[in-house]
Amino acid sequence: MTSTNRSGEVSIRDLCKSFVIGGRPLAVLRTLNLDISSGECLVIVGASGSGKTTLLRILAGLESADSGDVAIDGRPVSGVGAERAVIFQEPRLLPWLTVLGNVAFGLEIRGVPKREAEERARFYIALVGLAEFSDAWPSQLSGGMAQRVGIARALTVQPEILLLDEPLGALDAMTKIGMQEELARVWSEENVTMVMVTHDLEEAIYLADRVLILPKEKDGKARLIDIDLPRPRGRSESRFVRYREELLHEFGLH
Ligand SMILES: Nc1ncnc2c1ncn2[C@@H]1O[C@H](COP(=O)(O)OP(=O)(O)OP(=O)(O)O)[C@@H](O)[C@H]1O
Ligand SMILES: [Mg+2]
Repeated sequence: MTSTNRSGEVSIRDLCKSFVIGGRPLAVLRTLNLDISSGECLVIVGASGSGKTTLLRILAGLESADSGDVAIDGRPVSGVGAERAVIFQEPRLLPWLTVLGNVAFGLEIRGVPKREAEERARFYIALVGLAEFSDAWPSQLSGGMAQRVGIARALTVQPEILLLDEPLGALDAMTKIGMQEELARVWSEENVTMVMVTHDLEEAIYLADRVLILPKEKDGKARLIDIDLPRPRGRSESRFVRYREELLHEFGLH
């Protein structure tokens, strides 16, 4: 089921975005340049208000830039596209559909015949460990299970790029660690480019090939840190801990 010929390369050139708040312009993204390679996992961190969600929404085509270029596989992004899937903090499942119905929904609205859509949906439901819950209703799921359904739903349309905005932010600490492991596995099995926003520095180090740190200050520069650690990663290994110290230091913390 996994597609091998995906690409999902992202190129961001001189990207600028500001908003007007209370009649005053607020520059959020200031001449951002970045290339994300096919199959990479890029994790975005930064203070609240630094523009993480804004950047993700521009990549998703839900928000337009003021200037600059964003291209995917060489094609300029304009509006949402089938090669990109977005996962938000809350999975927003349709309450009148079962797990299977929710996961198959995206394919059915794309015109895939019901049987084929359900077959593919079952594959991804199993991939996120919910095979026994295909017929459950969203109201019968825990928060972590619901978010897994959201991940399966996004993967079922076989996107080249998965965009995630704090997907595990609402989960308790234990569930979150399990889900991080699951995300790492799904990412490597599906060979998909992943761009994920998080507040959790450990999560960033656990998952990322590179961490992008967005600055909060007007004259600050975005920073990229390579996470050069073998996978699966051990959170208590000394190099992991050193990366955590390095990131904390970036935020002026110890
Ligand atoms: N639609 C909008 N209209 C006006 N201002 C906006 C809009 N969306 C975002 N902003 C402003 O842009 C800035 C960045 O917002 P954004 O949501 O991208 O931050 P963030 O890094 O995701 O923060 P958080 O960590 O709190 O989620 C904020 O100051 C916010 O007020
Ligand atoms: Mg945000």
